[in-house]
Amino acid sequence: MCGIVGYVGDKNAQDFLISGLKRLEYRGYDSAGIVTLAEDGVATLLRAKGKITNLEEKLAHARREDRIGIGHTRWATHGEPSETNAHPHQAGPIYLVHNGIIENYKELKQQLKEHEFKSETDSEVLAALIDSFYKDGAHPLVNAVVQALKLVKGTYGIAVVSVKQPDEIVVARSGSPLVIGVGHGETMIASDASALVGHTKQAIYLNDGEVATVKSDSVEIKTLKAEPVSAKVEEIETNLSAIQKGGYDHFLLKEIMEQPESLIETLRGRVNEREGTVRLGGPGLSEAQLRKIKHLIIVGCGTAYHAGLLASYYIEKFTPEITIEPVVASEYRYRQVYIPKDSVALIVSQSGETADTLACLREIKKQGVTTIGIVNAIGSTIAREVDGGTYVHVGPEISVASTKAFTSQVVAMVIFGLTIAQAKGVRTSILRPYVKEIAHLPETIRKTLESVKDSVNGLAGKYAAYEHGIYLGRDTAYPTAMEGALKLKEISYVDANAYAFGELKHGPLALIDDRFFEIALLPKGELYDKAISNLQEVLARGGHVLAITNEESFDLPVDDVIRLDVDAELFAPLIMNLVLQLLAYYVTVAKGYDVDQPRNLAKSVTVE
Ligand code: G6P
Repeated sequence: MCGIVGYVGDKNAQDFLISGLKRLEYRGYDSAGIVTLAEDGVATLLRAKGKITNLEEKLAHARREDRIGIGHTRWATHGEPSETNAHPHQAGPIYLVHNGIIENYKELKQQLKEHEFKSETDSEVLAALIDSFYKDGAHPLVNAVVQALKLVKGTYGIAVVSVKQPDEIVVARSGSPLVIGVGHGETMIASDASALVGHTKQAIYLNDGEVATVKSDSVEIKTLKAEPVSAKVEEIETNLSAIQKGGYDHFLLKEIMEQPESLIETLRGRVNEREGTVRLGGPGLSEAQLRKIKHLIIVGCGTAYHAGLLASYYIEKFTPEITIEPVVASEYRYRQVYIPKDSVALIVSQSGETADTLACLREIKKQGVTTIGIVNAIGSTIAREVDGGTYVHVGPEISVASTKAFTSQVVAMVIFGLTIAQAKGVRTSILRPYVKEIAHLPETIRKTLESVKDSVNGLAGKYAAYEHGIYLGRDTAYPTAMEGALKLKEISYVDANAYAFGELKHGPLALIDDRFFEIALLPKGELYDKAISNLQEVLARGGHVLAITNEESFDLPVDDVIRLDVDAELFAPLIMNLVLQLLAYYVTVAKGYDVDQPRNLAKSVTVE
């Protein structure tokens, strides 16, 4: 979603801002803008609809040597994507960029009669409000910002500059991330640390309710109540190669193909194959606390929700006396749910910033329930607000569609489930097969990706021609089917939906015709024969089926089969998901769409 960057120092601000905004492109946006200030306070404002290359075209005619500025990528909420609605917004001498939503902007706007509004945005209202307290520089900028924010309802990450004080940026956050990069003689700000990589390794993550005055050689932080805050400088772990394509055509393919390595990072130090046990330090729960758990709530959105759903199927197989409730965060936050005693909530989020997931976390905490994060982004809001957590450590995931995070989220949650089972005294002989397969998963994934990549690519043209896709599975293959269908619709815009095989007769079977293809996930095991019977029903109605199976005896007359020779029986669906990821990727390439930045979507959904 919207991205913020800012620079004050001894280098060219326009250069930093443009390169920083490009780093944030992956979050999804529809317009972009920057403003820089010269020493004498002359402002150069450049904004453009569409891609950052459009902004660069304007920049070619407006190069400046300015040393301070702020920039923004906008993902429209209030007002269509247009140059006027793009940030930075000006009000008198100040310029503002804003992520989030000002909920009471209409009331505030009515009080700001002196400002002539040019855009339809809520953000311009905030700019005007700050300006009304700033009184043309009669008060320090930070004081004006604080006064304005006290009147605001909603969420924000903001950066503000003034032509009257062209040596400082004032930043503040409440619900939208902001990180300050501390360099030598320069200070940078961004909504996401990836914009700072290569410039500095030292970062200060602002907390909700804090405001900072940022200069080239100082950072002063206080709360909105004017209490001083001593800044905690943390190390940025990401390196440059993690945010580059590394020879791949798209980030998505890179992220699919790097899953053997990213899963190794998830497993590091957590799995003991020889003993058949697992260990997690992050959740910080004692054996006694783990033993007491009777109910697990798993909260997430999109792919993170599917990861929770799939993990729940696994955990209930080996953990006795436990009920598991995977929930969609945007729904759960408004439900009147009774949470039983002895519950623990797993909060699943790649970005650690998803607004609905964060809201659920806060609601659940209010009820006194222990919350454990299954998060990727280090230092993100969810990671900091949970009681304990397990980072999945897959490194930056740049492509909007989530792939490597999904695989690691599932495995991390299953490992958490195994720690509960261990504490509850489940026999090692029951748990060992899971531990063993998990330990071998990175290698299984590597072999699978290598062996199926070309054949999936070969099928993509054919499947790209269909208008609709139906993904089918049972048991653990059902959440896998849901995730596969989501991947396809997200990036290739093909209408794809998943159904439990057993539900076919209750409706979806009526759909089958030549506009549809069907994906049948057929892992070996107890329910294989039942799934085959369901598949027969599809074939009898002229379905166009691509079957994915690890059962050697499979011999139905389907259109195509992908046979997986995998060293994983329990986790075969997770391996099948790799095929679904590749299929979505190659179908999208065949259709010629933007793989990494699908239309209308954002990587990190920081608004409700
Ligand atoms: C967005 C992304 C999805 C992601 C979901 C949840 O919709 O495009 O890929 O699954 O948000 O994101 P999170 O960062 O909380 O995992």
